[in-house]
Amino acid sequence: MAAEDDANTGESDALDESAIEELRRRRTEAALGGGQARIDAQHDRDKLTARERIDYLLDEDSFEEFDRFVEHQSTNFGMAEKKYAGDGVVTGYGEVDGRTVFVFAHDFTVLGGSVGEAVADKICKVMDKAIENGVPIVGLNDSGGARIQEGIASLTGFAKIFQRNTKASGLVPQISAIMGPCAGGATYSPALTDFTFMVEDTAQMMITGPDVIETVTGEQITMEELGGASAHANESGVAHRTAPTEEEVLDDIKRLLSYLPQNNVEDPPRVDSWDDPDRRCEVGELVPDAPRKPYDVTNVIGNIVDDGSFFETHGGFARTLVTGLARMDGRPVGIVANQPSVNAGTLNIESSQKGARFVRFCDSFNIPVLTFVDVPGFMPGTDQEHNGIIRHGAKLIYAYAEATVPLSTVILRKAYGGAYIVMGSKLLGADTNYAWPGAETAVMGPRGAVDVLYRDELADADDPEATRQALMDEYREEFANPYSAAERGYVDDVIEPNETRKRLIRDLDVLDRKRTDGPPKDHGNIQL
Ligand code: HXC
Repeated sequence: MAAEDDANTGESDALDESAIEELRRRRTEAALGGGQARIDAQHDRDKLTARERIDYLLDEDSFEEFDRFVEHQSTNFGMAEKKYAGDGVVTGYGEVDGRTVFVFAHDFTVLGGSVGEAVADKICKVMDKAIENGVPIVGLNDSGGARIQEGIASLTGFAKIFQRNTKASGLVPQISAIMGPCAGGATYSPALTDFTFMVEDTAQMMITGPDVIETVTGEQITMEELGGASAHANESGVAHRTAPTEEEVLDDIKRLLSYLPQNNVEDPPRVDSWDDPDRRCEVGELVPDAPRKPYDVTNVIGNIVDDGSFFETHGGFARTLVTGLARMDGRPVGIVANQPSVNAGTLNIESSQKGARFVRFCDSFNIPVLTFVDVPGFMPGTDQEHNGIIRHGAKLIYAYAEATVPLSTVILRKAYGGAYIVMGSKLLGADTNYAWPGAETAVMGPRGAVDVLYRDELADADDPEATRQALMDEYREEFANPYSAAERGYVDDVIEPNETRKRLIRDLDVLDRKRTDGPPKDHGNIQL
């Protein structure tokens, strides 16, 4: 726009071009973070910079940045000489597939992305805005944790972040990616979020590193063995998914967001379905009749849900139970299923925790839960008992029993004992419960039951094994069918396997209007 002179003063009303140039110069400088040499070092490690990560995650040109000129105020330990515009994190908002997200990305080129007072305040600002506006938060973590030079200000910075993570929990989805070595407080914030993704080989998470461990315990271990993607995806369960590259992790986050509502008062986004809702699925052939024969339940899930829509979470952890998101006639659903190909699908401490957290997540964000049951029971043993299977199994009961989202459960083959009740059973709160014709529901499996009920007869029998077999057959006759449960209304119907998809989709249409009002309370006291 041409400058216009003020008639009285002769001064220009238009902004001085040099001011614009100064702003641009400052922005360009801020975009360099810790400088070109450190950006090169980041690239040399196969890592993107904070801004490159944000650009990849968000729709083109949709990023709006906050606080790009913020600097730390610390002067200790030579920090006055180490000021960088924006400090160690890039923050703002943008869009993923046209839907707004708030985002923060640690800038490892600035003091290792460490978190001092200014960094924490920048992160808290976007978290506050996300909470106020009902928008998901994505954190891209690459940080050495509390900034050592800033002492207590760094620690309190993390306290402020944790407080907001907890406040946001159940209000807006929170998603974390781990994209470098993350230590101390930089691990607890992701652990408070709903889903954590890790990049293989370049990302690690640990409370204390190998050096401290060796000093304190004498144990020698590498960073990767201690806190790499494999350790957290398969052992600790901290990570829900991993991928070989940063781009693939960011693609996974975009996909996850596509199933989620923006906040707890929105419905999850339904899309036009690409798969016939009345399609007869071909699941009957995937499940063997013999009750102990293993099979992979993910094939059954994949066949029932909209084609190609299953997105597994925690796939490497607690593998006796499968969890994930999918679509049914375009509508997002949560899936929980026993996995007969891993330890017969037995429930144990870890799978109880995994299932409980997943069901609670779905319940927080209005995502219906479909449960597929084929479970011989809880894992027996001293190890499980002494490590608290009672406490941890209680979590899964609690999660299903408190859930107010639509719950539909299908018993595929067997559902024994406490595990029958726990796995989204009717009286625990499932809205609809079905069984396939070959399903068995009983207090325990035939062998265990016969050994308890007929101990004396078996002890006196001439041929104990033949007697046991005959008694087991009799027991099966009584319980090895779904009709004893159907006669009492504990299952709503016995359905042909191939009808499963159609029936569940019709139920979801009806349950869409489900309303539940409990007495008000702050929160219950889930067994932790
Ligand atoms: C200040 C830090 C830093 C930190 C890294 N840097 N971590 N500066 N505070 N916490 C700086 C380094 O000094 C270095 O600066 C630059 O970042 C890059 O770090 P490098 O060590 O060269 O990188 P790398 O070899 O990849 O190792 C990354 C690392 C390591 C594994 C994160 O730096 C490290 O172990 N840092 C300390 C981690 C830690 O103990 N943090 C405190 C956790 S306690 P120069 O200028 O030399 O290049 C915590 C309390 C909260 O967080 C707990 C709440 C529950």
